[in-house]
Amino acid sequence: MIHLENVSKVYPNGTEALKNISLDINNGEFVFIVGPSGAGKSTFLKLLIHEEKATFGKIKVNGYDMMKIRPRRIPYLRRTMGIVFQDFRLIDKMNVYDNIAFAMRAIGQPEKKIRKRVSQVIDMVGLNGKEKCRPNELSGGEQQRVSLARALVNKPEMIIADEPTGNIDPKMSFEIMRKLVEINEKGTTVIVVTHEHDLVKEFGGRIIIINGGEVERDDRINTKYHPSDDTIFSNEEAVV
Ligand SMILES: Nc1ncnc2c1ncn2[C@@H]1O[C@H](COP(=O)(O)OP(=O)(O)OP(=O)(O)O)[C@@H](O)[C@H]1O
Ligand SMILES: [Mg+2]
Repeated sequence: MIHLENVSKVYPNGTEALKNISLDINNGEFVFIVGPSGAGKSTFLKLLIHEEKATFGKIKVNGYDMMKIRPRRIPYLRRTMGIVFQDFRLIDKMNVYDNIAFAMRAIGQPEKKIRKRVSQVIDMVGLNGKEKCRPNELSGGEQQRVSLARALVNKPEMIIADEPTGNIDPKMSFEIMRKLVEINEKGTTVIVVTHEHDLVKEFGGRIIIINGGEVERDDRINTKYHPSDDTIFSNEEAVV
């Protein structure tokens, strides 16, 4: 559960990246965040994961008050979420398997369980056969999928993904989004920043448009892709 009340973010150089944002995201929602480059989308996500601190306002995420959270509690906040960074943030010296396993080792999971789950998520993102590659031996889209697999591996209650399909071809993007919808239908909250309006139209749901640091629209479009169907119902009234 996410609650923002009159939240603003001013970076030290004076850039006002977010202006007076108030919104709630309930558990189990699937939310697309869209808007032009420089609009404040990544800043919004960075406030949710406490990578940046708001300058004004109130933020609560998964029971943590982001304005008061103690530094030693931040790892616990982060355990409630799987994060896909816009710039991937893979560990260069580790291969694909270890980059993903790392997230489970960090919370002390046994190796047997790690092996089973890592191979599941590698399969989910279509990276079979790449387990032993280092990030610099992968394409941009493959690195992005490693980053997504790492976000999913601990089955977090919330997935926060910044352009998770930005480097991936349309067919793979669709598959990845379909996986996220499936995960959402099992109860995980999913928040996805994307530039891909076609995906937003196809999958529908709640769309928050950020523009110039402000929420320009916060709407629901009826288009809803059901993984169990093979049909996509398109809504011509779509806002994007
Ligand atoms: N660390 C920073 N210091 C100063 N200004 C920043 C910093 N990070 C972002 N900004 C500025 O804040 C504004 C919002 O940036 P943000 O990265 O949130 O945009 P975005 O919507 O994610 O864009 P994109 O679609 O290109 O990823 C921009 O004007 C950007 O230049
Ligand atoms: Mg961004």
